[in-house]
Amino acid sequence: MYMQKYHIGVFDSGFGGLTILNEFQSLLPEYSYLYLGDNARSPYGSRSFETVYKYTLDAVKKLFEMDCFLIILACNTASAKALRTIQQTYLPQYYPERRVLGVIRPTSENIHNVTKNNHVGILGTIGTVNSNSYIIEINKLHPQISITQQACPMWVPIIENGEALSNGADYFVSKYIDTLLESDPMIDTIVLGCTHYPILIPKIKKIINPEITLLNQKYYCGKKASKHI
Ligand code: DGL
Repeated sequence: MYMQKYHIGVFDSGFGGLTILNEFQSLLPEYSYLYLGDNARSPYGSRSFETVYKYTLDAVKKLFEMDCFLIILACNTASAKALRTIQQTYLPQYYPERRVLGVIRPTSENIHNVTKNNHVGILGTIGTVNSNSYIIEINKLHPQISITQQACPMWVPIIENGEALSNGADYFVSKYIDTLLESDPMIDTIVLGCTHYPILIPKIKKIINPEITLLNQKYYCGKKASKHI
C-alpha cells in the first residue's frame, strides 16, 4: 500500500544519476521511481557549497512534494556538500519520517572489499575532491587504505554534451587517469566518484591496466538503500 502511493526519488545534477536509477530499478522493481536531473543548472561540480546546497534542497523539496518517501542523492557532489545538512536540519523539521541518502557512504563502506593492496584512487568533481569527503569517510572506516584523489572537471561537460564516446573525449580521459596513476602507481582500485563517470567506462578501460578494478558505486548504493525501506 505504502509503495503504491509513494515513490523513490533519484536526483542528480543531470544524466549521471541514471546509472544509479537503473540499478535501483533492477534491485527493487516493486517500487515506482521519479528521476530529477537538473540539466538546466548542471554541472554542480565547480559550484560553491552554498549553491550546491540550495540546488539540492530545491530538488529534495520538489521530490517530497511529489510523494517520494525516500530520496537518493545520486550525485557525489550533492552528497558531499548538501546531504549532511539536509539530514540534520531539514528532515527533522519538515519530514522526520522520510529519508534522504547519498552515494559516498555506501561506497566508502565497501571499498576495503575491493582493494587488495590498499592503494585506492578517487576520481570526482572539483567539489567532491575539495570536500575531502571520501578521505574523511574511508579514513574513519578503513584507516589502512591510502587514498589519492584526482578531479576531472572536463568529464561532466563532455558527457552532458553527448560527447562521451567521441574521439575528442580521449584526450581528457587519458589526462586525468594518467595524472592519478602517476601520483600513486600502486593504485589497484579506482572509484568512479561521480555518477556521470560510468558512462566513460569503455574509454577508461582501454587505457588502464586490466588488473586495476574500476569501482562503479551503483552496486553498493542500491543494497544500502534497500536496508532503509
Ligand atoms: N554526477 C554528479 C556527481 O556524482 C556531478 C556532476 C556535476 O554536475 O558536476 O558528482
